[in-house]
Amino acid sequence: MDCRQIYTFLFIPFLFISGQAQPSSPVWHGSTSVIPLPAVMDFASGQVELNAQLTLYADKRLFTSFDPVIVFTDIFEEKIKYKIPVRDLTAQHQRDNSKIEISLDTTLTQEGYELDIYDTGIFIRASASAGVFYALQTLRQILNLDNLSNPNHTKGSWDLISMEIRDEPRFPYRGMHLDVARHFMPLDFVKKYIDLISYYKMNTFHWHLTDDQGWRIEIKKYPKLQTIAAWRDETLLGHYSDVPVTYDGQKHGGYYTHEQIKEVVAYAAQRGVTIIPEIEMPGHAQAALAAYPELGCTPGPFKVAKTWGVFEDVFCPNEITFTFLQDVLDEVMDLFPSKYIHIGGDECPKARWNESAFCQDLMKREGLKNAEELQSYFIQRMEKYVNSKGRRIIGWDEILEGGLAPDATVMSWRGTAGGIAAAKLDHDVIMTPGPPCYFDHYQSDPAFEPLAIGGYTPIEKVYEFDPVPQGLLPKEQTHILGGQGNVWTEYMTTPSHVQYMAFPRAIALAEALWTPTEKKDWKNFSSRLINHFDRLDRMDINYATHVIMPQADVESQPEGLSIIWKSTMAPPYQFIYMSQNPQDEVWQLVNSGDTFMLTTPANIYYKSETFAKTSQHTSSSEERSESLQPKVSPVKMISYNPSKSRTSKISVSPQPSERYPGRGGIKALTDGLIGNKFFNGQDWCAWDGDRVVIDLKFDELTSIDSFTLGILSSSQAWIYPPESVEVKGSTDLENYIDLGTFDLSGMPAGRNDAKFQLPGTKVKALRFSILPVQEIPSGMPGAGHEAWTFIDEISIY
Ligand code: ACM
Repeated sequence: MDCRQIYTFLFIPFLFISGQAQPSSPVWHGSTSVIPLPAVMDFASGQVELNAQLTLYADKRLFTSFDPVIVFTDIFEEKIKYKIPVRDLTAQHQRDNSKIEISLDTTLTQEGYELDIYDTGIFIRASASAGVFYALQTLRQILNLDNLSNPNHTKGSWDLISMEIRDEPRFPYRGMHLDVARHFMPLDFVKKYIDLISYYKMNTFHWHLTDDQGWRIEIKKYPKLQTIAAWRDETLLGHYSDVPVTYDGQKHGGYYTHEQIKEVVAYAAQRGVTIIPEIEMPGHAQAALAAYPELGCTPGPFKVAKTWGVFEDVFCPNEITFTFLQDVLDEVMDLFPSKYIHIGGDECPKARWNESAFCQDLMKREGLKNAEELQSYFIQRMEKYVNSKGRRIIGWDEILEGGLAPDATVMSWRGTAGGIAAAKLDHDVIMTPGPPCYFDHYQSDPAFEPLAIGGYTPIEKVYEFDPVPQGLLPKEQTHILGGQGNVWTEYMTTPSHVQYMAFPRAIALAEALWTPTEKKDWKNFSSRLINHFDRLDRMDINYATHVIMPQADVESQPEGLSIIWKSTMAPPYQFIYMSQNPQDEVWQLVNSGDTFMLTTPANIYYKSETFAKTSQHTSSSEERSESLQPKVSPVKMISYNPSKSRTSKISVSPQPSERYPGRGGIKALTDGLIGNKFFNGQDWCAWDGDRVVIDLKFDELTSIDSFTLGILSSSQAWIYPPESVEVKGSTDLENYIDLGTFDLSGMPAGRNDAKFQLPGTKVKALRFSILPVQEIPSGMPGAGHEAWTFIDEISIY
């Protein structure tokens, strides 16, 4: 049956007839969906009818760094068609209760605010522009101004619960990053990104403007940055690790002019957002070298990179380079008023410096012991220059190597170790560790996701993020300024794809950085987040919907595989569908709590349709039909393929890594549930470097024709197919004879089933001895380390 039919048939009666689905009072629940959750939000008894004909009275001493009311009054005018008059608080006016009064309270922090909604009006207190802005952003969310299907908008009034909010952020630095070098993003999208950052009370936009693949900021003194460095001939298609590589044959590029940058900086400032520009040095410089080869250590020529990774041609630490970079930073600092300037510092290979007579000589002259110290010399010189202009530098955590520049703030990305080390050295830190802060990672099963760089960072993990790591003394903890989500765009070619990767993970991060730890609650957050879907729709954001993914609890039973469906929200808000045939759109409605038994091989697909809780408040029929569009979750698959191994007794030596123990332990290797190409799925068992011996014992003599090993291969993640598997068989459980050694090397990337014949074999036991790759080959990620071996499943036929 078509799911749309099920939906119309079942959903409508539930929603409008069932007493359960209707709230017992007409009070509008938008108020419970503020993100990030305020530190204190108390609901008083009593309802407030708020008339849209508001007047705003403000203490103009609060309009210090920017005008904090204009974004609110503009959105109000756009959505409600009413321009709120803004008057001076101190002047004498005849006032009724339809008012917002904004007054100065110097006891509050810069970003803190108090917001009271009483029947006598709305009262805001703050000590600075930022606090006022955040109070009004909270009010904007409470009034749900961004969702036009809210009936209050046409009614011209709101029925609210009386409330008192006391709020301030947990961390002063709450950032989102965007890489516009790998893929250029249009200016309008950059503004939209800033809108979203500020809607969720983040205050920093880290704009990654230069990299090997493109230079995106106009520098008037160096025109070839615009004509050459801003463009690449073509771009890699598919994944970086694909063999063979292919390119799209299309020129790609672009840059932002000074005028455009000024416009964005002003736009951000009005939203309480500081833009920190990043100019990468000394690595990730190939685009600049393509324009000005004299900045390299070898003569070139260089080309703007068209593939991803880390490149050996970097800025040479010569005087031409320092002059160039100082000139660049002069223009950058003229455009960006931020206290911080990010100068990169990450992933700078030292090969060219080690081969360069100039660099060797420089190191001797400066008493530098190695190339790491030369990098530190480079960064410290640039820091001195930036400091001389009254600014401070931020660098990625590699700037710790070879000695940290005296005043640098460290952005910890390779885990938290760099951040911990910097804080212990009395330096400020911004935490942005790969998982959970890299939003270029997969957020669900890659089988159903657009191509991404790798990794696995589901939104729940982002929400759990606490930027303050264990093991810091209280004084050191104060150096953790906050955190940031990073959006590297190698695999994101469009704004729409960026939105899908960044949102709603950035929203979860916004709450993790704002809300007091003890107030954080995933279930509560996820239900507020679903209530924001309507608003994000109105903002035309292509956000990901994994948060409404229903759960499927899978367990191996004697008769087969049981699947118990679990919704993340009860009906009428969420419906779960399963299918064995999604290509034909044949979906069957299932109930949360139902068990589905699989006894034969099958692929089972499942998904949900979810309705925002705010939908029920819609009254007019036209708006109702609009707001009843469900959100459809991504699809997930369970793959069941039982074989003779399912009934065997399995033992393994050594045990798999604690990180990848298999679902329910080593039984996962024979349970018939097949691991997909997503290595963070629970089905895989994995070992870090050891030879693995797997014994399967059958109750009786069993005929065998073949066996299959499910194997994962991902050089990016240090996962290699084993070199070989040696198989032995026994008829008496004591004496084992050789059945053959099978070559497993050279498998393509991804998930593979290696199938081997064992014709005419009758055994009571099989022993698989799996020989892993001993050392990751040079030139590959993790070179020199032991490789991971990932197995699921062992099937016997
Ligand atoms: C980085 O991801 N290279 C900072």
